[in-house]
Amino acid sequence: MKSAAEANRQYFREAYRTGKHGWAANEPSPYAVDFLKRLERLVPHGSLLDIGCGEGRHSIAAARLGFRVTAIDFEPLALSRARRFAKAKKTARITFRQADILSLPFPDSRFDIVLDYGCLHHQRKSDWSAYRAGILRVLKPRGFYVLSVFSAGFRLFRGSRRPWHIKYGAYRRYFTRKDLAVFFGRYFEVVKMTEERGEDGGFWHILEQRRAEPN
Ligand SMILES: C[S@@+](CC[C@H](N)C(=O)[O-])C[C@H]1O[C@@H](n2cnc3c(N)ncnc32)[C@H](O)[C@@H]1O
Repeated sequence: MKSAAEANRQYFREAYRTGKHGWAANEPSPYAVDFLKRLERLVPHGSLLDIGCGEGRHSIAAARLGFRVTAIDFEPLALSRARRFAKAKKTARITFRQADILSLPFPDSRFDIVLDYGCLHHQRKSDWSAYRAGILRVLKPRGFYVLSVFSAGFRLFRGSRRPWHIKYGAYRRYFTRKDLAVFFGRYFEVVKMTEERGEDGGFWHILEQRRAEPN
């Protein structure tokens, strides 16, 4: 039997191979773009790490706003698409790299901003501490974390009593406001938090700033 991690990898491989995945390939989320525009004023030309960048839609949006972007994903097919899209859009300043979020190949305090659009909610709970520790390690003091993650309103979860879902072999997890406060509150203060609702809705979009000291 496949391990949960293998099933997750297989899901993403299939998603990119078939092009059948539930998120836009090219169009960045307006919520993420709104946060990036705020950050453009706070940390102009700052260094940004996009974790689980997929086909690079948010990396490209960030680079177009002047950020110096590094983007990682563990799926080579996603990265080759991202490189192609970035080239087609004549977007310079993006370094795409194959890497696992659980072992980030960067020095400490390397980035002003970490952007996480849709990656956290695919991680197993047993990996959460390592996931958060990796982000904290590479983020500068008082750096920013831009997070978009499934909320309890996400449509795939409606009507189910199970908090964890394995659909097409992938882990998905939804988060309540309290889950997020418990998980991140010690390390980050919330600058802005919005819940997106609607047909496909059920997302938290959060801009957080690292605390000077853990709470
Ligand atoms: C839902 S997709 C979002 C892609 C992209 N951020 C976007 O907004 O279009 C999640 C991405 O995270 C990547 N991913 C999941 N777990 C990962 C891990 N442990 N290390 C690196 N990438 C991971 C997947 O390959 C996938 O591309």
